[in-house]
Amino acid sequence: MKIGIVGSGYVGLVTGTCFAHLGHQVLCIDNDRTKVAMLKRGKVPIYEPGLSEMITQNVKEGRLDFSLSIAQAVKQCEVLFICVNTPPKDNGEADLSYVENVARDVAQHLKEYRLVVEKSTVPVQTGEWIYKTMKEHQPRTSLFDVASNPEFLREGSAIHDFLEPDRVVLGVSSARAEKLLRKLYEPIKSPLLVTDIKSAELIKHASNSFLASKIAFINVVSRVCDAVGADVEQVAKGMGLDPRIGPSFLKAGIGFGGFCFPKDLAAFLRMAEKLGVRFDILKEVLASNDDQKSYFVQKIENALWNLKGKKLAVLGLAFKPDTDDMRFAPSIEILQALQKEGALISAYDPQAVEKAKPIFKGIKYAKNPYEACRHADALVVLTEWSEFSNLDFKRIKKLLRQPVIFDGRNMYNPNELRKQGFRYYGMGRKSV
Ligand code: UGA
Repeated sequence: MKIGIVGSGYVGLVTGTCFAHLGHQVLCIDNDRTKVAMLKRGKVPIYEPGLSEMITQNVKEGRLDFSLSIAQAVKQCEVLFICVNTPPKDNGEADLSYVENVARDVAQHLKEYRLVVEKSTVPVQTGEWIYKTMKEHQPRTSLFDVASNPEFLREGSAIHDFLEPDRVVLGVSSARAEKLLRKLYEPIKSPLLVTDIKSAELIKHASNSFLASKIAFINVVSRVCDAVGADVEQVAKGMGLDPRIGPSFLKAGIGFGGFCFPKDLAAFLRMAEKLGVRFDILKEVLASNDDQKSYFVQKIENALWNLKGKKLAVLGLAFKPDTDDMRFAPSIEILQALQKEGALISAYDPQAVEKAKPIFKGIKYAKNPYEACRHADALVVLTEWSEFSNLDFKRIKKLLRQPVIFDGRNMYNPNELRKQGFRYYGMGRKSV
């Protein structure tokens, strides 16, 4: 099938490339000239494991191309996915002006039937607005259908999540739209749920909000564990063995970040408020996620006393491993708070340094974890990159001024590090 993807960010690029990989003919559109030129030269503007190789292969085999022109996509492609950005406004609401622009542009170029699918994460009722907008610019409503097909891609494992999803959700309002989308997803053998458009939109926001709530819950439990000397890893394991709870997303740490959870929760909350539905659980989830970052900073201060002039070796800046994404990364608030207290930061991240540079002032970037540790007063882990799991701690102990580790992601075995002479502080894990 011929597919147009409007918006070539994380979601658009992964979606377009994976559809091409499945054998469809894909045209990815973006209004950023530099990005399109880069993609045409075979350069990928984001880091996502496996994506660059997959783009190169599909371009070479003639199934994937890039363009600035929505008109071209409308002309050539029967199904058009809207994958543009929906950034948060100051009040938490999602800014849907890019979605509206695309709907209008597509409608203005329509000559024959096209299916317009919203894939950007959007609040419930956006499908209705897309339909109304298109109708205003294209009164012949038989020329289009609108559908919702939310994405459930995790950065860092987006290709796997696309090709082997837990579920595919198709929110449709006509048999024709359902048939087209079923055909498109035919090669993917996963449960397929067909719903109305509003329910599909809600599945996305409710899923992300629920997952974020699970993380916030275990993080608060980790503070209780700290207070009484229990181990949150054991508590989470015991909870997760109950199939009604499940083991995933119960990893305590320094809080969730990224461009999805914080913004989707805020948007869902805002939408509920607008609809007159009280959803204070979400308010609390957001507040306790902020608390978790302050709590970690406090933990460091409590253990090191004065931070002024102390050097901290920071491992990991990205909001999670296997991505260079710094958006809403917990490292931002944590490091800024530590710097405010006078701490000097020497940081290492395998991928995110270029994206971190414009965000932080006065941070030194190391070439590897050991360089970061040289003459530092403590080691602080903020992202659980796999390359940090097998560090040479004997060497690190010699490099550090004091053998202190703050493990913000509970990566290490506290007993082993203590045996090696470290003072170990995890999240909810019997410190020191
Ligand atoms: C999330 C969802 O998991 C995807 O299903 C969804 O499609 C995506 O948002 C989206 O809306 O586009 P993502 O933000 O890439 O994916 O990353 P996650 O793996 O969900 O992690 C989010 C944050 O939670 C990270 O900061 C991570 O470190 C944190 N986290 C996750 C924890 O602190 N503990 C956990 O147990 C799991």
